[in-house]
Amino acid sequence: MEENQDVVSVVPEDEGKDKFKKSEHVAFYRRQIQGPNLQHRALLDTMALTETGARLELLQPETQTRLLLSLSPCKRDTVRILIDELQPIKARYRVPDVLTEELQCEPLRVDQHTKDSVTLSWSSGRHQARVWHFPFRLEILCENKVIVTFNAKGKLWFEALQDPPSSEEDDSLWKETFRQFVDIKANGPSSIGADLCLHGFRNVYGLPEHSDDLRLRDTRDSEPYRLYNLDVFAYDLHSRLGLYGSVPLLVAHKPDRTLGVFWLNASETFVNVQYSPTDRQKTPPANRRKVRPRTDVRWMSESGVIDCTVLLGPNPQQLFSQFAQLTGFQALPPLFALGYHQSRWNYDDEADVEAVDAGFNHHGIPYDVIWLDIEHTDGKRYFTWDPVCFPEPTRLQRRLEQKKRKLVVINDPHIKVDPDWSLYCEARDGGHFVKDREGQIYRGTCWPGDSSYLDFSSPETRSWYSGCFSLDKYKGSTSSLHVWNDMNEPSVFNGPEQTMPKDAVHSGGWEHRDLHNLYGFYQHKATVEGLITRSGGSERPFVLSRSFFAGSQKFGAIWTGDNVASWEYLKISLPMLLSLSLAGIAFCGADVGGFFQDPEPELLVRWYQAAALQPFFRGHSAKMMKRREPWLFGEEVTAAIRTAIQQRYCLLLYWYTLFHQAHTAGLPPLRPLWVEFPREHNTFTVDHQYMIGGALLVCPVTEPGVQEVEVLLPGSGEIWYNVHSAAAYRGGRTLSLPVTLNTVPVFQRGGSVICRSEGHFSCTADLQRLPISITVALNNQGVAAGELYLDDFHSFRYRDAKSFCLRRFDMRSGWLFCRAAGGEGTFDCDTVVQSVTVLGVKTKPSAVTVHVPGTEALSTGFQFIETCCMLLLSSLKLRVMTDWEIRIS
Ligand code: NOJ
Repeated sequence: MEENQDVVSVVPEDEGKDKFKKSEHVAFYRRQIQGPNLQHRALLDTMALTETGARLELLQPETQTRLLLSLSPCKRDTVRILIDELQPIKARYRVPDVLTEELQCEPLRVDQHTKDSVTLSWSSGRHQARVWHFPFRLEILCENKVIVTFNAKGKLWFEALQDPPSSEEDDSLWKETFRQFVDIKANGPSSIGADLCLHGFRNVYGLPEHSDDLRLRDTRDSEPYRLYNLDVFAYDLHSRLGLYGSVPLLVAHKPDRTLGVFWLNASETFVNVQYSPTDRQKTPPANRRKVRPRTDVRWMSESGVIDCTVLLGPNPQQLFSQFAQLTGFQALPPLFALGYHQSRWNYDDEADVEAVDAGFNHHGIPYDVIWLDIEHTDGKRYFTWDPVCFPEPTRLQRRLEQKKRKLVVINDPHIKVDPDWSLYCEARDGGHFVKDREGQIYRGTCWPGDSSYLDFSSPETRSWYSGCFSLDKYKGSTSSLHVWNDMNEPSVFNGPEQTMPKDAVHSGGWEHRDLHNLYGFYQHKATVEGLITRSGGSERPFVLSRSFFAGSQKFGAIWTGDNVASWEYLKISLPMLLSLSLAGIAFCGADVGGFFQDPEPELLVRWYQAAALQPFFRGHSAKMMKRREPWLFGEEVTAAIRTAIQQRYCLLLYWYTLFHQAHTAGLPPLRPLWVEFPREHNTFTVDHQYMIGGALLVCPVTEPGVQEVEVLLPGSGEIWYNVHSAAAYRGGRTLSLPVTLNTVPVFQRGGSVICRSEGHFSCTADLQRLPISITVALNNQGVAAGELYLDDFHSFRYRDAKSFCLRRFDMRSGWLFCRAAGGEGTFDCDTVVQSVTVLGVKTKPSAVTVHVPGTEALSTGFQFIETCCMLLLSSLKLRVMTDWEIRIS
């Protein structure tokens, strides 16, 4: 938040930002930072090779703590390092439900065993791990080069569980006070930590969610990155403090390797990053070869075990796939979810919803989903409807459905304490609430006032909650109703840092501290399961969640919470979404226009333009803000917003194909430039422009009054085509491009093929009837290729009945081929390719012929625009499912 701005929070009796801790307020962080380097010994003689890798004991001589280290090299080039106490007095928490499958391990061999070290190898000797006896270090080598050292700086930290102290005087480690809140630690001090040195790397990313640059900062002189899910209204900008969700994945990149470190821990976590040399002492070129840069990363968590997986890449695509194999692939959204969503806290009543819905038709603006916030309920009782304002919710949904549109309603994790409400009683009697440290049902305050919180970590509670979404139980719901999980960090207005006390107790007796960062993940999971079950397993659900953890991508979408209507927040949304995308959370977006405060019309237009080029696209605003439906700001603004949304809809086939790639290969639709240009140093810190898939480069306008934008077009061998003018530019340069209020810079990369829908949309359902236009952007070799994924856009038949198709368009040597791209899909449809535009055609062709197997080759008319080397073919009517060729001679 920009300073000196008076922000009145939406949270009743809010105390502002002072309610949140800084690292200095956190006892376990202080202990680790101020504590001594405890050197450990690796007891090499205890090493045993098992089916899942190697095990050996570590000893901390001063404290006599004995640890068990398990090292598991896994298929697809990942290495898991697990450290627990050898004999804990009771089990320590291990994060369940995040890893998708039992890891498939590779057999290890001992290459060398000396008194100082043991060297192990796997995967035909390409990779090795070397364990040093004293001081204990673990090196990971690729082709004989050390790329990662675990415990390089000797920061391994493991507080063994102890019995409680006998007198109250020594209980300082068992109790922690912050403001008026006292945290009683049932297990005493139990924190863990470790450092890793990433050799040769000087750029690291990831660790969402923070409102900061994409490239992580050196934290030597500033706050560490905090991973602790919190409800932070109008969060500060350029901050490392915790926000709504956490993904403990750090990604390191250098020209020849991309690497990941995944720290699987759901308790409060801090990460410190140190670049050497620091950014300020950049190495003079002459010395560059002598000084090998490195990045040191230190992780510290409050409880649990050390569970750290190194993902070895080596390229960005492999890294994404490795992480997706570990934590899950992005759920394939139903197509409507990629359309535009119109939300507000709140639409007043049914008539209001219908009027807004009609407004979109009236103004020729496409949209798919209208949202209802907390006021739609009967007194903030989720699963109910306000009897006065929403007396006929089923009718409302049916009317929207007639226009092929959907309704989304909010469903928070807190339940109003109301013994006269059957759902509350069921939850209470079924034992579905989180308990306090005394074993009573925990109570905190949220929107309904006095509330209890569902214990989503319990499979029984999840299954009960999922059942609440069944059509017969959830009165007034229909199959076109989808869900929004909010406040699920969880937000507790009167709790420490506005969340649940760490000493609250979950099923299995686990403390909230152990699994805090998983709470929202579990609600998201339960909601998704509820909607899937509701449809008998046939329909893909759509659920948006505010809180998230690694793996939340399996469930649906997330957004960046309570942002503010200012240019700075528009700007920060780009690195925030890129960072989420790198960490697997591919279906993400920010509230368009800013949740809090009223955007000036120019900002609103720029925000729509940017968000139309981002995965999750929803306008939303707080209840005290002015109405901001797109037609309320005069015709110029309406027209600009209409254009941005229409263009989004025309590009939906491309987005959908990218989501198929995220779903099957783990590639995020939104990509930092370096992902596509891994060897181009000048892309490594860019986060104000990005790629959508491999084909489109965008540079949203995030400043007022802009008439010209500087755009980096990477790659000296590349050609970039301006999608508005078709003008071609050579890559490897920064271009100054004039813009108007109606345009933002978007370029298609030479070598790619993109499919768009032709015509006007009112919602995504129109996609089925509209023809396709193909844009072939030739590269320097006159070659281009691209894919198109199609299915029924809403069900699981693509998965269960292989009802999908993947088509490939290939242009080479003057031929454009339309073919199956492999895969055994059986989907068929009547969609036709109506037009083809080829960019980069140097000379006017003499003839263009269309070849459809089984029919005679037909010559077709064409238009050649010499000034921009563009060839246009229209009225083609070629079925996209049929194989055909076009010859340009
Ligand atoms: C907080 C959410 O972030 C916001 O989007 C929502 O409108 C309010 N809660 C009210 O439900």
